[in-house]
Amino acid sequence: MTILCQTAAWPAVGTSIVGETVRAVDDLDAALRALSDDPAEYLVVVGPEADTAEALRFAAHLRLERPAAGVILVRDQVDVALLTEALRAGVREVVTAGDTEALTAACDRSLALSRQVHVDVRDTDEPEPEHEGKVVTVFAAKGGCGKTTIAINLAAALAASETHRVCVVDLDLSFGDVAISVQLEPVRTISDALTMAGHLDTTGAASLLTSYRPGLDMLLAPVTPGDGEKVPAALVGELLAVLRGMYDFVVVDTPAQFSEHVLTAMDVSDHLVLLTTPDTPAMKNLRITLDMLDLLSYSRDIRSVVVNRSDSKVGLSGSDVERVVRSPINGNVPSSRHVPISINKGIPIVFGTPGHPVSQAITRFAHERLLGGAEPARTKVYARRGVRRRG
Ligand SMILES: Nc1ncnc2c1ncn2[C@@H]1O[C@H](COP(=O)(O)OP(=O)(O)O)[C@@H](O)[C@H]1O
Ligand SMILES: [Mg+2]
Repeated sequence: MTILCQTAAWPAVGTSIVGETVRAVDDLDAALRALSDDPAEYLVVVGPEADTAEALRFAAHLRLERPAAGVILVRDQVDVALLTEALRAGVREVVTAGDTEALTAACDRSLALSRQVHVDVRDTDEPEPEHEGKVVTVFAAKGGCGKTTIAINLAAALAASETHRVCVVDLDLSFGDVAISVQLEPVRTISDALTMAGHLDTTGAASLLTSYRPGLDMLLAPVTPGDGEKVPAALVGELLAVLRGMYDFVVVDTPAQFSEHVLTAMDVSDHLVLLTTPDTPAMKNLRITLDMLDLLSYSRDIRSVVVNRSDSKVGLSGSDVERVVRSPINGNVPSSRHVPISINKGIPIVFGTPGHPVSQAITRFAHERLLGGAEPARTKVYARRGVRRRG
């Protein structure tokens, strides 16, 4: 499973850390031969004795020929220049020689990534069939409408059957709160994609993701607001293009403005979920959003209007909302204190309480509008279990 190359000074360490299925080879040519002998090899650790330029050429070659395989470079000294060059060449991680703990962690991460990358390592000579997942952008021009809540729970509903691979992208680059809503530590974020701009591939994209649970990953927003400004809109397009090749659904959470980044996401979206709450400022902003989308010639067929907190006692009926926004409503999500409770727990309500009316509304919407009208398999079970209290 793992090839250790030119690791003369520490083969014993290498063997103990990456398990028993390890092969030691003397040089990079031998590593290439070992790789072609066994298509199930998907990690090469290049030791400090190997020449850096040769190692980078090897990584660049492997990235094209064996995208599922990872290269970890071990160097006596690691600096930013080397790191940048290495990542550019397609090296997954650079580790300082002697740091066993870091090497173990890097090997674990690389092996996990290789499993994620949608390439059948036993079949790499066959051309990969083109996979085009759907990009779904959730937007509201007014803050607090529930974009993040709906985006995460929509992703949860799409991933719940465990038949679809789903990725949430937090495009609220300055104030993204996907990570905090599901209690994930943002170790890798969109900012880490900056060094890959212009040559992002599935391996690179996979290295940016944080897994929430099998089949549901997240691309988290930068932690520092200033970092978000450094992310060019073109990189968002590149990220979404790569991610849609890796997932069945890419659900994009957005900030409350028509930024260049949001428009880039909308441009490549297969579906736009446009939110409002039943209050006049939110409805006015939705109306403006719909007008703007018309002006920009976005197809009406790919839009859904969803009223979040639709049952709020504010004196506005569904038909009032339809009249003000001048558009049919495709989904209604009720209001419940269990929504903020679920966020405080870090568990999307669709996962935590699938029978809850909020979960059912979002699941129904996902099935009707995004999964081709198929009835959710578990609806009947939810219904039978019933929900005693509504918040
Ligand atoms: N259906 C709902 N019922 C009750 N509270 C909700 C509902 N949807 C969202 N909220 C709450 O409203 C607040 C704003 O939601 P959020 O998803 O962060 O909005 P946005 O991302 O549009 O700014 C959060 O505190 C969230 O818990
Ligand atoms: Mg938000």
